[in-house]
Amino acid sequence: MSQFGPDYVRAIAPYQAGKPIAEVAREFGLDEATIVKLASNENPFGMPESSKRAMMEAAAELGRYPDANGFELKAALSKRYDVPADWLTLGNGSNDILEIAAHAFVQKGESVVFSQYSFAVYALACQGVGGRAIVVPARDYGHDLDAMAAAIEADTRLVYIANPNNPTGTFIAASEVEAFLARVPAGVIVVLDEAYNEYLDAQDQFESAAWVRKYPNLVVSRTFSKAYGLAGLRVGFAIAQPAVTDLMNRIRQPFNVNSLAQAAAIAALNDKAFLAKGAQNNREGYQQLTAAFDQLGLEYVPSHGNFVLVKVGADEGAGARVNLALLKQGVIVRPVGAYGLPQWLRISIGLPEENARFIDALKKAIA
Ligand SMILES: Cc1ncc(COP(=O)(O)O)c(C=O)c1O
Repeated sequence: MSQFGPDYVRAIAPYQAGKPIAEVAREFGLDEATIVKLASNENPFGMPESSKRAMMEAAAELGRYPDANGFELKAALSKRYDVPADWLTLGNGSNDILEIAAHAFVQKGESVVFSQYSFAVYALACQGVGGRAIVVPARDYGHDLDAMAAAIEADTRLVYIANPNNPTGTFIAASEVEAFLARVPAGVIVVLDEAYNEYLDAQDQFESAAWVRKYPNLVVSRTFSKAYGLAGLRVGFAIAQPAVTDLMNRIRQPFNVNSLAQAAAIAALNDKAFLAKGAQNNREGYQQLTAAFDQLGLEYVPSHGNFVLVKVGADEGAGARVNLALLKQGVIVRPVGAYGLPQWLRISIGLPEENARFIDALKKAIA
């Protein structure tokens, strides 16, 4: 074991990403074209055509650095969310926003509160700055906001909340989130991570940007990786009041969002038809998957995202075993043993035919 670097960096367990298609093809001797990947909550339609066109145009200027301030993208976001541009921080994916927040607000030894079964990057971001994680036990696989408010200590600097949460898909209603924000001490930053917001049903949607006006300690984090279909380009953003935004932008790498990503994101933001098509596919895919789980008698957590967490067996080895059986059939999903859920798998919702391939493979895998 290397002795380089601080203990807290050496103690980090690396993030386990979804397996790439090419890797599974190599490992299992499969043809890439036959592999179905439902492992990383990506958009099954890929990137919007509007983004592709914008990106091709922007490619002509790739010899130059990107706009470090993302003027045009911020102008588009500013209009869309009705906040001034100096309330926006751009990120290399929203993952970057989560890390920037840890770097900007947490010193070594200070504590960070997040929920059991919440997005893995919260623990990594906390550990990366030598923070002390306070992991609050989940309630019904989701955030227990009362327990989280009670868990805040004198040295707590940051709270992460995922809504909807990954990998469980649980959702907290607007009224509960707001009651929580009202309880959090003013000096504690709350990062409200809404990576899956665009998949919410209309009645669950709320304007979290409006809360930012009311709460100077709130950072709302969003991404272009999921509903907007730009995961490979890496672009996300945060909305927060200027004092907080200013600090986050000091920590941010100047050119963290490349020019292709900026151009593609502007196009995607205005592509309402693409979002609507994705939301519709997601609703239908959710019905398709959960109907199969019901038929197979498998427990799942009702999801508000573009994925479903399903329990594939009663023993501790179930998730890994069924995952391997699926991989051998060319279906990539996400094992969640690292989240403390070894009996479960997380399935991203795909196109109808991809979901059907997965369901077929699952039947064989658990037979
Ligand atoms: C809850 C949540 N937040 C943030 C992210 C980060 O996504 P990205 O960095 O692609 O924006 C993810 C990705 O899976 C996620 O599930």
